[in-house]
Amino acid sequence: MSNRTFTMIKPDATEKGYTGAILEKINAAGFRIAAIKMLHLSAEKAGEFYAVHKERPFYGELVEFMSRGPITAAILEKENAVEDFRKLIGATNPAQAAEGTIRKLYAASVGENAIHGSDSDENARIEGDFFFSKLEQF
Ligand code: CMP
Repeated sequence: MSNRTFTMIKPDATEKGYTGAILEKINAAGFRIAAIKMLHLSAEKAGEFYAVHKERPFYGELVEFMSRGPITAAILEKENAVEDFRKLIGATNPAQAAEGTIRKLYAASVGENAIHGSDSDENARIEGDFFFSKLEQF
């Protein structure tokens, strides 16, 4: 069990002005922000981040979407961070997400699903290091 996870507030949520509300829910759920930045991913960088999904039929769509506009990337700290954060954001498909979860409240579809959360401690470290240097992680 690790105490850190990685998240991105995705371009759809940024466009709709949900960034502040989502950060407030993250804060209220007891996560400490250990790193944060807003940036616009190039298609190349988005493709690199999601390289694990390269063979999936939705990969092209995913890369295009994730490079469409700014995102907010963050490293979050809390006991049992990966699992608790995935509970807070809800199922990948918002139609299946539990009431009160971030995706139920703010996501439109399985593709444009408002927010990312790491699926393991190892990926949380890899993904956090993709966006933040050691000097930017507190
Ligand atoms: P995320 O948790 O960031 O990890 C991979 C992403 O791929 C996922 O959220 C969705 O945005 C996207 N994704 C997963 N399944 C599909 C799908 N069936 N169609 C389109 N996009 C998908």
